[in-house]
Amino acid sequence: MKSEPIIIEKASVGDSPRIAEIEKICFSVPWSENSVKDFIENPLCVMFAAKDRGVVCGYIGLYIIADECDIANVAVVPEYRKCGIATALISHATDFAREKNVERMMLEVRASNTPAISLYKKFGFEEVGVRKNYYTQPKEDALLMDRIITKKA
Ligand SMILES: CC(C)(COP(=O)(O)OP(=O)(O)OC[C@H]1O[C@@H](n2cnc3c(N)ncnc32)[C@H](O)[C@@H]1OP(=O)(O)O)[C@@H](O)C(=O)NCCC(=O)NCCS
Repeated sequence: MKSEPIIIEKASVGDSPRIAEIEKICFSVPWSENSVKDFIENPLCVMFAAKDRGVVCGYIGLYIIADECDIANVAVVPEYRKCGIATALISHATDFAREKNVERMMLEVRASNTPAISLYKKFGFEEVGVRKNYYTQPKEDALLMDRIITKKA
């Protein structure tokens, strides 16, 4: 039987409950459903969801101010990991950011989060600083990473 492709589209407020559920699975300090909803409704923010037959299996949240874009979160549910969904989400986010004339993408990541750091390095993100004890539960430093993007010719 032919499997359905994973679709990436802008998340809507209706996706908030499922995204909040994934937050709980993936993070020790998850965003609440209201925080997700507020993010989706914030005109400076955009969230893209990866969907399998209409069900969210991953997402990426972007916060864009002028020519800078902060990746606020990216997550993929465990059953869907290691099959390129985060890669597809970051590629999609990069294309969107370029269209918005963003020149610099930034993010913070737990210093021990090897899968995420490896993912970001694949996209050319480089470590540019450390925020001491930035995270709680457990307390941990954040690595600051950034990447310059330019508009495709
Ligand atoms: C990090 C995360 C988003 C990766 O999602 P994914 O869909 O599995 O990632 P992809 O399949 O697109 O993998 C792309 C690259 O990420 C890295 N990566 C992903 N999982 C990895 C793992 N378990 N160990 C090491 N590297 C890993 C690899 O470089 C991989 O490239 P490769 O397949 O050529 O080795 C996912 O593990 C996740 O949701 N983790 C929990 C939430 C989180 O930590 N988010 C980041 C917050 S800053």
